[in-house]
Amino acid sequence: MEIIVQPDAGAAAPIAARIVARLVREKPGAVLGLATGVSPVGLYEELIRMHREDGLDFSLVTTFNLDEYVGLHPDHPRSYSRSIRESFLDSINVTKENIHIPDGMADDILALCARYENEIARAGGVDLQILGIGADGHIAFNEPSSSLGSRTRIKTLTEQTRKDNARFFDKEEDVPHHVITMGVGTIMEARTCLLLAFGKKKAQAVAAALEGPVTAMVPASVFQLHPAVKVILDEDAASGLARKDYYKWVYDNKPDWQGF
Ligand code: F6R
Repeated sequence: MEIIVQPDAGAAAPIAARIVARLVREKPGAVLGLATGVSPVGLYEELIRMHREDGLDFSLVTTFNLDEYVGLHPDHPRSYSRSIRESFLDSINVTKENIHIPDGMADDILALCARYENEIARAGGVDLQILGIGADGHIAFNEPSSSLGSRTRIKTLTEQTRKDNARFFDKEEDVPHHVITMGVGTIMEARTCLLLAFGKKKAQAVAAALEGPVTAMVPASVFQLHPAVKVILDEDAASGLARKDYYKWVYDNKPDWQGF
């Protein structure tokens, strides 16, 4: 696991974008796993800038979103479908047919989840999965106690996550209880994972995930078992890490040949 600590989210975004851009240049038909929420916003802005100014080409890229609220229409202002389109997909030249987002309005959610897994497999698997982390250690919407082998399925949000996400809704009661989410096992099959976390509110979850025991009670801790995870943090999110200074030294003194 490579842990990169930057002064703030603004400094982290270009580093994260370079990782994504390098993959897309090396493999134009790359499969990207996308997260919504606040954490990847700077990354998406930087990728949009690279698309506009440097010609970064997404025309052959395929995308799979991590999750969606059950019961929200894709055009609902708080749906993750609308959020990812507005924050990223509408501003790059990704081909519409290559975009995959779970449909929160699906009649048969079980069938949708099975289909989503098949579509990921048919696309050749996710090359690079972008993720945030919840204050309770969730990844995608795999809340604590989620099976570390789980696949795409329906989940029930914890009260903490509903409270955390209430800021995007008019009131807390409007936050759906149910979501469709890629499973922990699904995420673990991505060839590379890029986890972003910023702010003091994430410090405890980050420390538990990166330095605590691997446990279903902190789903992000499963990344300790993944062969290729990059974590980009700001100082606040890294503030609970016992070995923060070591990670910083490693990054600052990385030999050129090692690359990202
Ligand atoms: C969103 C997702 C969630 C968020 C997490 C952090 O698609 O999968 O796991 O990444 O809740 O959210 P933010 O980034 O808003 O703090």
